[in-house]
Amino acid sequence: MTSSHAYLSGLFSLDGRVAVVTGGSSGIGRAIAGALARAGASVVIVARRKTELSATVDELTADGCRAAWVSGDLGTRDGVRAAAEEAAAVFGEPDILVNSAGVNLRPPMDELGEDVWDTTMAVNLEAPFLLGQRFGPGMAERGFGRIIHVTSQQAHRAFVQSGAYGVSKGGLESLARSQAEAWSPHGVTCNTLVPGFVLTPLNRRLQSDPERVAALAARTMAGRNGLAEDFAGAAVFLAGRASAYVTGQSIHVDGGFSVH
Ligand SMILES: NC(=O)c1ccc[n+]([C@@H]2O[C@H](COP(=O)([O-])OP(=O)(O)OC[C@H]3O[C@@H](n4cnc5c(N)ncnc54)[C@H](OP(=O)(O)O)[C@@H]3O)[C@@H](O)[C@H]2O)c1
Repeated sequence: MTSSHAYLSGLFSLDGRVAVVTGGSSGIGRAIAGALARAGASVVIVARRKTELSATVDELTADGCRAAWVSGDLGTRDGVRAAAEEAAAVFGEPDILVNSAGVNLRPPMDELGEDVWDTTMAVNLEAPFLLGQRFGPGMAERGFGRIIHVTSQQAHRAFVQSGAYGVSKGGLESLARSQAEAWSPHGVTCNTLVPGFVLTPLNRRLQSDPERVAALAARTMAGRNGLAEDFAGAAVFLAGRASAYVTGQSIHVDGGFSVH
């Protein structure tokens, strides 16, 4: 091994680590799962649709990675608990937990009913809380852990009918700080990755308006909208040894959108 390779490995290699990535079958979560797996982690992805899950895992294993999938509904407490146990049974208790599963239902505020509120809170906020409760204490006991939540610029500002979605993401940012406060003394960092507008299936409907898409790109400093792959490097950083002293933080991966 060259000395630069050894140095980079010391900072960023995830060899021997186990990661659970919710929403790892699509968009940002899929890119993060791929990045962690290619950096050496054994990765279990969790979502509902089996075709997308198995296609993602097939792609990773074909690339020489260690990956597996668990199909589960993170919209119910029982679903979260079952998925957590199944995920931990594959490669062992995780060192890294990434919460990327999310839904963005956009009814206008006047029409926002309790069903949308409940679904949004369950998937976007409660599942990350329950998974943190399940895995955080074990990470703390073992003296190493990384929890990464994917939030949104809507945790910080209203944007295209933020409704319940923005509230759930604001709560998730606060959850990250609470978890960081609790477990950082034991080597478990907890941070959030904050996307701007990223071209994924989540906002397919918004993407059908090219003028809108171009206007959003113009609001960034980089001059383009986000791609799922933009999250790979930041996720590997937050999952590895290099970020040991970074905790309770919100890291905007948005081409400057949030500060423009
Ligand atoms: N794209 C953006 O512009 C953007 C901006 C800000 C924040 N974000 C956040 O980034 C994260 C990833 O979004 P994305 O754009 O990558 O979306 P995406 O491509 O739609 O992926 C969402 C993932 O979550 C899973 N999921 C949804 N509901 C679930 C449930 N009840 N149980 C289990 N899994 C569930 C989906 O799989 P199944 O449907 O098969 O379950 C899928 O794997 C989300 O938290 C989102 O809020 C995205």
